Order: sequence, then C-alpha cells, then structure tokens
Amino acid sequence: MNKIEVKGLYKAYSDKGRRINGYDECRLPEGSTVLHDINLSIKRRSFTCFVGPSGCGKSTLLRIMAGFEHPTKGWVFIDGMPVNGPSPRHIFVFQEDGLLPWMTTRENVALGVRDIKDSDERRRRIIEYIELVGLKGFEDHYPHELSGGMRRRAEVARALITNPDILFMDEPFGALDFLTRLQMREEMINVHMMFDTTILFITHDIDEAIQLGDQIVILSERPTNLRADIPLAFPHPRDFTKGGLAALRRDIYFQMGIHTAL
Ligand SMILES: Nc1ncnc2c1ncn2[C@@H]1O[C@H](COP(=O)(O)OP(=O)(O)OP(=O)(O)O)[C@@H](O)[C@H]1O
Ligand SMILES: [Mg+2]
Repeated sequence: MNKIEVKGLYKAYSDKGRRINGYDECRLPEGSTVLHDINLSIKRRSFTCFVGPSGCGKSTLLRIMAGFEHPTKGWVFIDGMPVNGPSPRHIFVFQEDGLLPWMTTRENVALGVRDIKDSDERRRRIIEYIELVGLKGFEDHYPHELSGGMRRRAEVARALITNPDILFMDEPFGALDFLTRLQMREEMINVHMMFDTTILFITHDIDEAIQLGDQIVILSERPTNLRADIPLAFPHPRDFTKGGLAALRRDIYFQMGIHTAL
C-alpha cells in the first residue's frame, strides 16, 4: 500500500478567502480554483519534492495533506485512512523561523520530547539529536545567537526527535545562502537514509528537487494540476551535470517552460 494517496482533490477559495463547501465550478468566481483534480501516490519512506510556479498552490496542497485545511472536494488517504485533521506524527517545518526566541537550542529541541517521562532518557535523546544536526557546543545559545543555517538545523532536530511518520517541509531552506543550502541538502539526504520518515518537500529550486527527490511532482499554473510526476531512481550523491540525470534535468526545465540552454 502507498503511504499517501491523493484522489480527485480540488481546492477553491471564495473571493473573500472563505471556504467553499461542495465544489460547483459553475458557481465559483473566475480564478478562485487553486487545486484542480490533483491525483498523487506517494510511497512509504520516499522523498517527494514539489515544484511549481509561485502561487500555484504548493503550500495549500501540503497543508491539506497534513490535515490543517480541508479540500473543497476529494480525499487524502494516509495509510489507507482518510485525513480529517492534523496528527502529532505529522510534523511541519515552515520557511520562516519556527524556533521560540526565548528558548535555547536545547529547550527548543526538548519541545519535541515533552512526552518522554524519564528525564535521563529525555536528556540523552536531546544530546543525540543536537549532535546529529551538528549543533554540539551551541546547546545554550538562543536563536538570535545562531546563524540562519544553524536555526534551520535546530528546527530539523526538533522535528526529527519526535520520530515523525511524515515530515512536511515547505521551502525550509529558501532563506539560506547558496552554500549553506547545498550543505543542508546533503544533510537531508543523510537524515532520510537514517530515518523511516516519509518526506514531502516544497522547493522553488529545480536542482534541489533533482538532488533530493525520489519523486518530483511538477505543478502547473492555476487552476493547478500535475504537469509531471517523475520518479527518480538515481543513487546519491547525484551529479546532475552528467549522463541520464543531466538529460532528465533538461527535460524537467523544458516541462517548466524554460528553454534556454542549461
Ligand atoms: N486562505 C486563503 N484565502 C484565499 N486565498 C488563498 C488562501 N490561501 C491561499 N490562497 C490562494 O491560493 C493560491 C495558492 O497559494 P499557496 O500559498 O498554496 O501557493 P504556493 O504555490 O505555495 O506559492 P509560493 O510558491 O509563493 O509559496 C494563492 O493564489 C493564494 O492567494
Ligand atoms: Mg508556498
């Protein structure tokens, strides 16, 4: 069984942003349809990247899959069960800083293990995850004392320490500089190999998607449908300047409507 199935999913907003119950295209003001008949299958433990034009509905789609929003029509199934709301096993990492500014790295990461009663076990896990993301030595720093990349790492640690079943990441490295982003990509590949987590990852960067994804979902302009759904069975680390991956990269850029030589 696939981990996630999206079937005949539509999302429309009224012009005032009110939710529209029951989908009747004839009655909707023009331009209000965001997602239009999205169908998707996502495998257990896979790393799926979503790319598409700004405003096409990537964040909306992820929020619906995570149960934060209801679709206007259609379904999302996780492990064969329809999604009706958020789950503590499904963790969201947003583009903006999500750390609590009045808490240190250790305290922020500790939020992910509030449920562990044994304080020694809790302490051990916090240390383990802070080390995993390379923040040893910065346990007692506050977010404003960390770099952008370090703050992202702390957030990844806080997400992973909960042992999430699904990790939703909405442009998590969008605000980072190029080199830090490259480094974070490598770390995500390692993290994905170490954990059983299914990862859904939005990015504006096609190369980032090619480097990370087992599956790349390309969304169209609004009303948004799937422009392409591409499986990527290339081993890591990936060099997209060579061989089959280079050809695939050209093809993906072409499908995005970018025809300049790359
Ligand atoms: N609550 C809402 N009410 C009305 N319209 C909304 C609401 N949420 C999203 N939208 C509209 O839905 C469209 C898709 O938004 P969404 O944030 O999902 O796009 P996106 O693909 O994530 O864009 P970006 O790449 O810029 O982050 C946008 O045009 C937005 O204006
Ligand atoms: Mg978005």
